[in-house]
Amino acid sequence: MIDNKERLQKAMASCGVASRRKCEELIVAGRVKVNGNKVTELGFKVSKRDDIEVDGKLLQKEELVYLVMYKPTGYLTAVSDKLGRRLVMDLLPKELLKTHRLFPVGRLDYDTSGVLLITNDGELSYRLTRSSKEIEKVYQVRVDGILTQDAVNQLMRGVLLDGKMTKRAKVDIISLDRKNNSSLISLTITEGRNRQVRRMCEAIGFPVKKLKRTSFGGVNLDGLAMGETRVLKPHEIKVLYSL
Ligand code: URA
Repeated sequence: MIDNKERLQKAMASCGVASRRKCEELIVAGRVKVNGNKVTELGFKVSKRDDIEVDGKLLQKEELVYLVMYKPTGYLTAVSDKLGRRLVMDLLPKELLKTHRLFPVGRLDYDTSGVLLITNDGELSYRLTRSSKEIEKVYQVRVDGILTQDAVNQLMRGVLLDGKMTKRAKVDIISLDRKNNSSLISLTITEGRNRQVRRMCEAIGFPVKKLKRTSFGGVNLDGLAMGETRVLKPHEIKVLYSL
């Protein structure tokens, strides 16, 4: 979910000023300022970083929250689901969800585990998922079969998905299990195409058996058990913003 900018009346309403309709009246009446400038236009959009004043009083902004979750498999990366499946949001403290409009940054498949960032900062989420910036995502992948050097080279050089080559990737072989005919690799990619890792491996003839994201923009799973969440440290947030 991208929550980059929203209409001024909506932002005011969610800060508890009044109903959206009443907020519109306040705007038209010239009683609202954004970053010190009077705004009377109803289509005006604001981000969470903007200062909004009503009758000279600054509105309290929602505190920005940055979390990293060790997502278990069997949970949907979404804030709601028509089919009633378990959501990653179900793993967060209920109290936090009452006061903060949190959402996951990008997606992990239902059957993928690992690093999932969760925030209410639409600006950061946009930078990490929608901009052209190359954010490194590291996956530990168990595939069916013993990976050949040719297969490794293909993954590194790029694989054709939907008529477009994937960007260069890093591949490290962690172990080859000849007895069970499977390989464990670390794959680092900088894109976030739909089911990219599964489709890349499938395309070269090595279907994925198990997939875990071990790092997103340098944020890893250190100290987290599956299903647990921790608050990001200030320097981690700074690094994510600088990427
Ligand atoms: N690539 C996939 O195939 N699935 C994920 O969940 C993440 C990356």
